[in-house]
Amino acid sequence: MRIIRAKDYEEMSRKAANVISSVLTLKPACVLGLATGSSPVGTYRHLVSRFERGDLDFSRAVTVNLDEYRGLDRENSQSYYSFMNSHLFSKVNISRTNTYIPDGTEPDSEKACGEYDRILERAGQIDLQLLGIGHDGHIGFNEPSDRFEMGTHCVRLAEMTIEANARFFSCREEVPTEAYTMGIGTIMSARRVLMVASGADKAGIVKKAFRGSVTPAVPASILQMHRDFILIADEAALSELDA
Ligand code: F6R
Repeated sequence: MRIIRAKDYEEMSRKAANVISSVLTLKPACVLGLATGSSPVGTYRHLVSRFERGDLDFSRAVTVNLDEYRGLDRENSQSYYSFMNSHLFSKVNISRTNTYIPDGTEPDSEKACGEYDRILERAGQIDLQLLGIGHDGHIGFNEPSDRFEMGTHCVRLAEMTIEANARFFSCREEVPTEAYTMGIGTIMSARRVLMVASGADKAGIVKKAFRGSVTPAVPASILQMHRDFILIADEAALSELDA
């Protein structure tokens, strides 16, 4: 595992965009695994400005997102589809038919997850998977558990995750309690995994995940076993790791 230090959120975002830009430049038809949440917003902003300058071309890229809330349709402003649309897809020359996100409107979870696994299989190996980290160590929506799930599955979100995500909704009751998420097996099979982490509130979990033992009770800890895992984090998020 490699740790790249950044002064703050802005520098973290720039450095993460550098890594993604290099993948896209060297392999224009790459498969990018994408994440939502606050952590990658700055990264997407940098990718968009590089595209606007003419330095990046997304026309042949395929993207697969980690997760989607169960029960939210694409038009819902809190869906992860809407998030991706407003932060990246609508601002670069990616072909919409090459962007994939689990179907939150499919009530049959087996069907939704099976279909997403088939999409992932057709897309081929993910060249770079971008991740954030939840306060309980979740990646995608793989919450702490007694085993690592391999494929796409339906999860009940942990109370801590619902609390953390409530900031995006008008009230806590509106936060969906379930989501479809890519499995740990799929994340681990990506050629390269890039995590962005920022802020003092992530310091404790960053230390637990990357200095503690590998356990499904801290899902991100499995990344210690990945052969090309890069953590780009700011000083605040690394403060306990350094201590
Ligand atoms: C979102 C996702 C989640 C977030 C995590 C951290 O697609 O997969 O694992 O990365 O909840 O969220 P932020 O970045 O908002 O702290």
